Amino acid sequence: MNLQENTFLVTGGASGLGDATATAIVEAGGRVVIADLATSDGETTAKRLGDAATFVPVDITDEESFTAALDAAEPHGPLRGAVHCAGRGGDRVRILDRDGNPAALQSFRDVLEVNLFGTYNALRLAAARIARNEPVDGERGAIVLTASVAAFDGQIGQTSYTASKAAVHGITLVAARDLASVGIRVNTIAPGLFDTPMLARLRSDIREGLAAGVPFPKRLGSPTDYADMALALLRNSYANGETVRLDGAIRMAPR
Ligand SMILES: NC(=O)c1ccc[n+]([C@@H]2O[C@H](COP(=O)([O-])OP(=O)(O)OC[C@H]3O[C@@H](n4cnc5c(N)ncnc54)[C@H](O)[C@@H]3O)[C@@H](O)[C@H]2O)c1
Repeated sequence: MNLQENTFLVTGGASGLGDATATAIVEAGGRVVIADLATSDGETTAKRLGDAATFVPVDITDEESFTAALDAAEPHGPLRGAVHCAGRGGDRVRILDRDGNPAALQSFRDVLEVNLFGTYNALRLAAARIARNEPVDGERGAIVLTASVAAFDGQIGQTSYTASKAAVHGITLVAARDLASVGIRVNTIAPGLFDTPMLARLRSDIREGLAAGVPFPKRLGSPTDYADMALALLRNSYANGETVRLDGAIRMAPR
């Protein structure tokens, strides 16, 4: 998929991994629709990126606002792909508390609602729109989803987050198979520890400790590392149905 002159939707594009991806697409000569919450910095990000970027307030769990974001892509030509970065952290709740009480089911549901149902909503609606395109070099478009290494090595207190991200990994191959007949590729990136506002909430000594645990390179991932991979997966016409760990070879310890 050629990025130049083509339009892509980036969910969560107001911050962190999504912001870096939207920026990289514009730098590569493409156009972006930044789909993020109305309360996000999406407007500021779009202004920074200039005419090639548009911000649309979207809740990824909501069909109507997501459809408005897809519509916003249309005036500039067909939507050729989507990078789905919008998501939230987990609830950090153990299955049993110290007194043996079970965790609240609603807390688990809330994480799944955004990270899994939101992903499926974005996937199905973006795919339906991209499927209308005329094929270019045999393909209609490409979609990149975002899981986490927690999909594979979830830590204590991460049942909800791990369930949501393992499910995103799980649907990747199914989505690639489902959408093969319409010429849409689907891949997922499973980031390790990335230096974004999501991680900035942690104390700096904890962040330094996390960086030291990465085998090589001994640093947190930069949002541009993610963007480079997202663009590679959009561009590479043979990449399909794969979850790529992007993590400096880290394997998370139990806690
Ligand atoms: N930062 C990391 O270390 C890391 C590691 C593994 C996975 N991830 C995943 O990467 C993705 C991006 O994370 P990030 O670090 O850039 O986080 P971030 O908090 O910087 O950005 C997330 C963006 O998603 C948006 N968002 C949240 N809920 C939304 C909703 N319902 N509708 C629309 N937008 C919504 C937020 O407004 C925000 O702009 C997330 O799915 C996260 O789980 C991040």
